[in-house]
Amino acid sequence: MPRNVTGVVLMLIAAISVLTSGIAAGRGDAAAEDARLRASRELTRQFQQRLKAELEAAIAQGGPVGAIGVCREQAPAIARELSAAGGARVSRTALRVRDPANTPQPWQRDVLLRFQERMAAGEPADGLEYFETPAGEGARYMKAIPTGPLCVTCHGNNLAADVQAALRGMYPEDAATGFAAGDLRGAFSVVWPEESEAP
Ligand code: HEC
Repeated sequence: MPRNVTGVVLMLIAAISVLTSGIAAGRGDAAAEDARLRASRELTRQFQQRLKAELEAAIAQGGPVGAIGVCREQAPAIARELSAAGGARVSRTALRVRDPANTPQPWQRDVLLRFQERMAAGEPADGLEYFETPAGEGARYMKAIPTGPLCVTCHGNNLAADVQAALRGMYPEDAATGFAAGDLRGAFSVVWPEESEAP
């Protein structure tokens, strides 16, 4: 856990409550959609930023093998914390997953496939996002996660022998290798419950 978790969470709660106050106040659908979209972006930004900081610190301290634990424990822990603070289900998923717990739901798989098509058509992975408010289902948001140079240490083609051995031990069904920098690695997902909709 980083030193200033409480501060970060408090700031986040403040940001989210400002963003979602439009919903609580019962404004129209458009305003509510917009508030959830903006809150989704903020939750995703926090997730990405904290994970990257933890990952870099862990690699500096214990090398890539030591950092595997950050992804294994911190990624789900940060996701749980942000979910509780934001009132939405925050997670990561991908077309090829390392952890079966991150297997995409059918709608997430469709969005990931569309992200891949859009990248093939020349759109940069960085800006790819998706937002919808299906009838009776709250709201759903996804944001593409591109593979960066750091990521190939554990998700690339030529993993160091110790990294490969550690991953194999923890994730016997690992399908999340073979990525190159610039590939679509996966996506963040934020799912809002139906009751967060404006009345
Ligand atoms: C030190 C090794 C390591 C590095 C470096 C690393 N990851 Fe991972 N990654 C993992 C592990 C371990 C998991 C499984 C986490 C879990 O159990 O939820 C994972 C899971 C993921 C997932 C969730 C989907 C899945 O495959 O289960 C995404 C998305 C992801 N990583 C993206 C990235 C990106 C983007 C980077 C570069 C910024 C990166 N990873 C760098 C080890 C690593």
